[in-house]
Amino acid sequence: MSNRTINIGLCGFGVVGQGVYEHLNSKRQALRELLCVDMFVTRIAVRDLSKKRDVEIDESSVSNDPIAVATDPSIDIVCELMGGTEIAREVTTAALKAGKIVVTANKALLCDHGRELFSIVREFGGHLLFEASVAGGIPVIKAIREGLVINDFSSIYGILNGTCNYILTRMANEGLSYQEILVEAKKLGYAEADESLDVDGIDAAHKAVVLAYLAHGKWVDFKNVRLMGIKDVSQEDIRFAKDNGYAVKLIAVVNKERERKALHVSVLPTLVEKTSSLGSVDGVYNAVSVHGDVVGETVYIGPGAGRHATASAVISDVVDAAKLLIFRGPEGRFPIIDLAPKNGGCIEVSRPSEIQSRFYIRLVVMDQPGVMAEIASIFASHQVSLASVTQKEVPEKAERASLIITTHSTTEEAIQRAVVDLGCLATLEEEPFCMPIGTIS
Ligand code: NAP
Ligand code: HSE
Repeated sequence: MSNRTINIGLCGFGVVGQGVYEHLNSKRQALRELLCVDMFVTRIAVRDLSKKRDVEIDESSVSNDPIAVATDPSIDIVCELMGGTEIAREVTTAALKAGKIVVTANKALLCDHGRELFSIVREFGGHLLFEASVAGGIPVIKAIREGLVINDFSSIYGILNGTCNYILTRMANEGLSYQEILVEAKKLGYAEADESLDVDGIDAAHKAVVLAYLAHGKWVDFKNVRLMGIKDVSQEDIRFAKDNGYAVKLIAVVNKERERKALHVSVLPTLVEKTSSLGSVDGVYNAVSVHGDVVGETVYIGPGAGRHATASAVISDVVDAAKLLIFRGPEGRFPIIDLAPKNGGCIEVSRPSEIQSRFYIRLVVMDQPGVMAEIASIFASHQVSLASVTQKEVPEKAERASLIITTHSTTEEAIQRAVVDLGCLATLEEEPFCMPIGTIS
């Protein structure tokens, strides 16, 4: 057995950083048996040196200078676990330019700067590993990159944000408001430091952009992602879902249109059949359904956020990084991700205007004669055919009615146009709320 050691620098020692530290220590013996090396966290960078931590650490290993940790010649593997896109970009760039292998859990960083970071990887011969950036503890990056490498992917969709799924599940089971549950999700370490990234759907969109890159070799510009979060999902929507055999889930979709070879990415609250593979995935769990031309559909389910699940994914990359160092040495690394765009040359990115779906629309209107006719004519003018209309009184608001409308299959573009026209109705009391029914077709 070799007596070699591998030194790890943790830039960030919050929820994920402390989980990685804890499990690297508790599994040291198992890792030694697997790799014939000892792995130690020898340097840690934090923002606030006086903050109390959950795990005991040697104070002398801690600094508030993440660049110094990232470029320290004694450090073999740098874990960027800080979050954000500014310092994280500087730290990752500095480490890659210093020839380190970098492991990151930061999907925002990859989404905003992935193109640039991978070009640094190519130029300087390092590696950037990112298993923990999508779907927490589910090894979906390795599945797509390695296990499904021969496939062309027509669609990848799923629940990619643990915080939102935790909130929607508890809203459905306990009737609580999303704000109350968000406080719990923060305490449990599921939510981002800036929780609006979660509830506004941005975090799921970052992850979908990373999946699109993995599957198609194309960085989708964030402005082309059709995006809506869960803040406007009401108890009325959840009741409708329950009464009709659905669950409301925040669903991210990466879809490649066969004919135009166009790539669409969207993140939307969606009515998913409760008995489907995604409909029964509750709490902090994520689920990803991957459709490959050779394999067919594969589905991955597991904890999507939290200290331990995320540490599991980060450490899987640390182990890959250690193998690169042990078996090839720092000078002779081989790429473990195919950086050349798979179909990048012939895929265009566009908004998902042509995706067909059924839709659910909730409107609050003045309860007056002729309102229903006006609404019906707006849908008709956009060739949207209605499947059902349910009207209810709004108990606390006299003379107002809540309308729940479902449509037959139509395009995203037609429904958006109809919603814009509905928004101009003088009798409308609240912004229309709209979501697809079913995932994609
Ligand atoms: P967190 O608990 O907020 O921890 C962030 C850590 O980074 C803290 O230790 C903080 O220092 C440190 N930090 C921030 N800015 C710094 C700076 N300028 N200089 C030095 N240190 C700095 O965040 P987290 O939940 O661990 O998430 C970390 C990353 O993992 C994020 O990219 C997140 O998106 C990703 N991720 C999180 C989860 C999850 O379940 N939480 C799952 C998957 C991926 P202080 O402690 O001193 O403030
Ligand atoms: N805030 C993220 C989530 C962490 O809730 O899914 C995991 O990426």
